[in-house]
Amino acid sequence: SRDELHHRILDAKKTLGDRVVVLGHFYQRDEVVQYADFVGDSFQLANAAKAKADAEAIVFCGVHFMAETADILSRPEQAVILPNLAAGCSMADMADIDSVEECWEQLEELYGTEPDADGRVPVIPVTYMNSSAALKGFCGEHGGIVCTSSNAETVLTWAFERGQRVLFFPDQHLGRNTAKAMGVPLDQMPLWNPRKPLGGTDEQTLTDARVILWHGFCSVHKRFTVAQIEKARAEHPDVRVIVHPECPMPVVDAADEYGSTDYITKAIAAAPAGSTFAIGTEINLVQRLANEYPQHTIFCLDSVVCPCSTMYRIHPGYLAWVLEELVAGRVVNRISVPETVVATSHIALERMLAAKP
Ligand code: 13P
Ligand code: SF4
Repeated sequence: SRDELHHRILDAKKTLGDRVVVLGHFYQRDEVVQYADFVGDSFQLANAAKAKADAEAIVFCGVHFMAETADILSRPEQAVILPNLAAGCSMADMADIDSVEECWEQLEELYGTEPDADGRVPVIPVTYMNSSAALKGFCGEHGGIVCTSSNAETVLTWAFERGQRVLFFPDQHLGRNTAKAMGVPLDQMPLWNPRKPLGGTDEQTLTDARVILWHGFCSVHKRFTVAQIEKARAEHPDVRVIVHPECPMPVVDAADEYGSTDYITKAIAAAPAGSTFAIGTEINLVQRLANEYPQHTIFCLDSVVCPCSTMYRIHPGYLAWVLEELVAGRVVNRISVPETVVATSHIALERMLAAKP
């Protein structure tokens, strides 16, 4: 039963004490978040994984790429555990290392490999945190960097200082929204088409390109529309619309603000009582914020519930299981990034952690 599960988790956590730390992403359901020692966005969780160097095990209530990142940033002896191995991210799966390498070869053919007079290389690869460790490793190897939705602009600035242009993957929307806010014209952000590589894409566009966008997207954030924003404004004239930058560009343009899950959380916390918010992000976070701030009116832009189905795969039952196994001295569901990939992806992640606005 639920009650029994609750006590099993609390007992196991009590027995383990500081030997284990439970991290939870903002999109986790409340039944899981209540057991997290630290809740945050993906940038904060990466920092937390690095900071919890004393814990023997890090139980990561989130998705696979986040657990991989925790493994890369933590000490090799620390075990990172993903309570359900089926918790992936469909966006991260949209860029595989083979296709990215193929694209890279084509770009090298087009742009060459020589730096310009200012010492800037032809292309800097930038990967969104929502990607496999192999892609982060690719970026580490090729002078590139990782970004999250909370530091994408800082990271793109870093990249433009070192490169003439950027290859951004996997999320086209985060790439486009961020570069647009930085003043990059839309016609200088071509979408890479793997089925129509060089020659298929307009070469002139690629010559002028500042940001080459991969074709990935988030199926949760893709659902938000401008019509939903118009409806929210019609029904609540004083509404503040905040959306996640994984939303399509017209939605971000129609919103009042956009930002990471942490940005959204902080904006609501800082608002005067009686504010109205329409939020374009995952429902578990929106619902929790609505419960935590009854003095505000907070609702999700999409009235049809849209949870991230893979985040939802972390069930308290799995959490109880992995914790009890730890009590018994067994590590289950360990996420182990191969050593060679750790070395290269670490470089790209550390560049991100060191990049300053
Ligand atoms: P944050 O970086 O805002 O935590 O977002 C992660 C994510 O998966 C959004 O869909
Ligand atoms: Fe991936 Fe979208 Fe889920 Fe975030 S919300 S983990 S990008 S599928």
